[in-house]
Amino acid sequence: MTSVNDLRSSFVGYFASNGHEPVASSPLVPRNDPTLMFTNAGMVQFKNVFTGVEKRPYSTAATAQKCVRAGGKHNDLDNVGFTARHHTFFEMLGNFSFGDYFKDQAIELAWNLLTKDWALPRDKLMVTVYEDDDEAMELWKKIAGLSEDRIVRLGAKSNFWQMGDTGPCGPCSEIFYDHGDKVWGGPPGSPEEDGDRWIEIWNLVFMQYEQHPDGSRTGLPRPSIDTGMGLERIAAVMQGVHDNYDIDLFKALIGAAANATHADVNGPGNRSLRVIADHLRSMSFLIAEGVLPSNEGRGYVLRRIMRRAMRHATLLGANEPVIHKLVPTLVREMGQAYPELSRGEAMIAETVRLEEGRFLKTLGRGLQILESETAALGEGAVLDGATAFKLYDTYGFPLDLTQDALRSRNISVDQAGFDAAMAQQKAEARKNWAGSGEAATDTVWYGLADKLGPTEFLGYETETAEGEIKALLVDGAEVDAIDAGQDGIVVVNQTPFYGESGGQVGDSGVIKGEGIAADVLDTGKHHGVFAHKVKVTEGTLKRGQAVELLVDHGRRSSIRANHSATHLLHEALRLVLGDHVAQKGSLVSADRLRFDFVHTKPMTPQEMAEVEDIANTIILQNTPVETRLMGVEEAKESGARALFGEKYGDEVRVVSMGEPTGNGLGWSVELCGGTHVRRTGDIGLVSVVAEGAVAAGVRRIEALTGHAARHRGNANTNIVASAAGLLRSGPHDVLDRIEALQGQLKSAEKALADARQKLALGGGGERAGASETVNGVTFVGRVVEGVAAKDIKSVVDAEKKRVGSGIVVMVLKGEDGKGTVAIGVTEDLTSRYAAGTLIKSATAALGGQGGGGRPDMAQGGGPDGSKADDAIAAIRALL
Ligand code: ALA
Repeated sequence: MTSVNDLRSSFVGYFASNGHEPVASSPLVPRNDPTLMFTNAGMVQFKNVFTGVEKRPYSTAATAQKCVRAGGKHNDLDNVGFTARHHTFFEMLGNFSFGDYFKDQAIELAWNLLTKDWALPRDKLMVTVYEDDDEAMELWKKIAGLSEDRIVRLGAKSNFWQMGDTGPCGPCSEIFYDHGDKVWGGPPGSPEEDGDRWIEIWNLVFMQYEQHPDGSRTGLPRPSIDTGMGLERIAAVMQGVHDNYDIDLFKALIGAAANATHADVNGPGNRSLRVIADHLRSMSFLIAEGVLPSNEGRGYVLRRIMRRAMRHATLLGANEPVIHKLVPTLVREMGQAYPELSRGEAMIAETVRLEEGRFLKTLGRGLQILESETAALGEGAVLDGATAFKLYDTYGFPLDLTQDALRSRNISVDQAGFDAAMAQQKAEARKNWAGSGEAATDTVWYGLADKLGPTEFLGYETETAEGEIKALLVDGAEVDAIDAGQDGIVVVNQTPFYGESGGQVGDSGVIKGEGIAADVLDTGKHHGVFAHKVKVTEGTLKRGQAVELLVDHGRRSSIRANHSATHLLHEALRLVLGDHVAQKGSLVSADRLRFDFVHTKPMTPQEMAEVEDIANTIILQNTPVETRLMGVEEAKESGARALFGEKYGDEVRVVSMGEPTGNGLGWSVELCGGTHVRRTGDIGLVSVVAEGAVAAGVRRIEALTGHAARHRGNANTNIVASAAGLLRSGPHDVLDRIEALQGQLKSAEKALADARQKLALGGGGERAGASETVNGVTFVGRVVEGVAAKDIKSVVDAEKKRVGSGIVVMVLKGEDGKGTVAIGVTEDLTSRYAAGTLIKSATAALGGQGGGGRPDMAQGGGPDGSKADDAIAAIRALL
């Protein structure tokens, strides 16, 4: 038997040996298309290569592309479980020519693979061509030798392929396989064509045009080829079964599901087993790519898929989480071809288990309500929209799950009633918001959030993506266009740019499109709507344009590192300082990080070093950083750290890093919506550079990571080296040398002060002892400079001692221009002259007032030191 894995490699190998480049599957979340929810065909990743916008180093390629058709334009979700060949996840095998070969070689390559390499009987094959494509008709006759009755001409509905409303397109030709008369159905174009007997196995698209949004069509630069063959379908053919769910891969998945639920594979539960097997694939591949179940956008499609599978598990009697147990079987079957599955196995299983737990909590109650509300309804009846909405809103039943549950009883749901109930709830929310007194400047953003819904954030997984411009603002008001040179704000439907929140700064980068370019200076986030602050550098931005959004990678990498390091420091602080360390705020920017926390005293240098050591130890463990989606309570129970008082949604991202110490999720576990490194080693290094107080009982540390930390370390080393140079010592002797110099400086200063004092006293030179006798009293009056103000009294004292009996006045002319005066009166004269009284006249002369002291010694001062001589004269005059 040719297994699915054999077929996949056989297909790609065949085209590789025919000169095609084997190209890996692109992600399910398209990076290059703003309108597609999920990659739904092999050509999606080559869209821009066909139109000539993107160049690749090869002109032909072959792929096995993972595809999801659930939600959006191609939605097969509701059919899964009811047909033999619908899947939400499937693989499309394809070969591509970008202006290299065209119809003839495409037909020849396909025909040879099927009939020669894979030896399918020619008489079981038929083809269709576009109604007026005579060329294809002739080529099939010539190359495959098919007679005209085995070539069916069909109209645009089946034989003109286009990716979506826009993009590359062209007529196509499909190859059909006859599963034989045991199966009901007819050839293409016949009334019975919808049966399972004749199955389309391969679509060859002759890409010739590009469809534009305005409805016009232009030719591609060169005619090209895009083909698509569903791997599951061809596997069924090659394995001699007509039902895709009977191929080896699905047998394994269905077997595992039957085991886990104790269901009989051939019993009435078979439909549920198929649903579980199919949905297991789509959910696992989406989760592997970082999509997490949510209530918006892609995350909501994922949730619908997961919950549908979960309900089918309970239909089989399981009332415990079981689906997550099937992940290892899927990884065994497909992990080799898709390593992201093997890498993500634990994370996928855990995400599924958590969602199962969440849903099972309300599922029973919801099913009861569904049961009682529909008990009285007969075939063909309609369930009211209000009940369906209550199931949705309170019990987490997506609408299609309710529809699915009622489908077998032929009961439908009043969709209009459901929509009305939803609209009413939104209106209530709006009313509450209007009454909550939020800033009026917010009105615009609330309006946009209401109109457009939240922007889908792709930035956990990618730093470049395409988005469609949904709104433009200049000076806070909506506009239709922003011209080159203008500043404004751009809102798109999906973006890789992080909008400032949770302490992490917004991303910057560029927005590009055909003939347009804008620098994104910053990104904000308002009610879930991302605001790209731009300066348009080229062309005119307009609503509706598809643009490429490119985050500044280097800056984002630094921000990631700083954010992850913040988590590590948080945990390290707790370990070193104690459990009271609660986060009070943080700032994560590209060049540094800041973390505020509760702690009453300054950290010691030892504590800082210890915190840094611990954080760097976890960095060196270089373990993957993991993100889970959890209910808030569940997250807190698991020990995740949250910001006290912060409002969280029902579900939160939980980021864990470092090897778990107990049976926890990781060494550091925090509720966090920010962007993080892939592995702790990506932080490189963290270095705490500052510690201080911000408020009573709140400390702040600042730290650097990666290159910034290294540069700072280097800069410090350079400073030490330069200092050593100046000191003419080795770097290690710098401290000793500085200490020695400080000692020397101190004694030199002391010696200088002594010398100055001596000088003030007359320096022992010719002015020593210069005194006069006024009114029979010895009077010494002197103006001094270069003495410290605090020393002037001791100078006066010394002079008093020297004269024995007399009055000494010293006025210091300070360097700042002020004057300081000290007056000493020897004991024998204090009954006649009080220093404390005399001083007032001296300070008055210096332009000041007051001054005071004891009768034998007083000091004062004034702003005008230049009047020093007047101050002395004033005292002399008083004697
Ligand atoms: N792009 C073509 C398809 O999806 C091959 O059918």
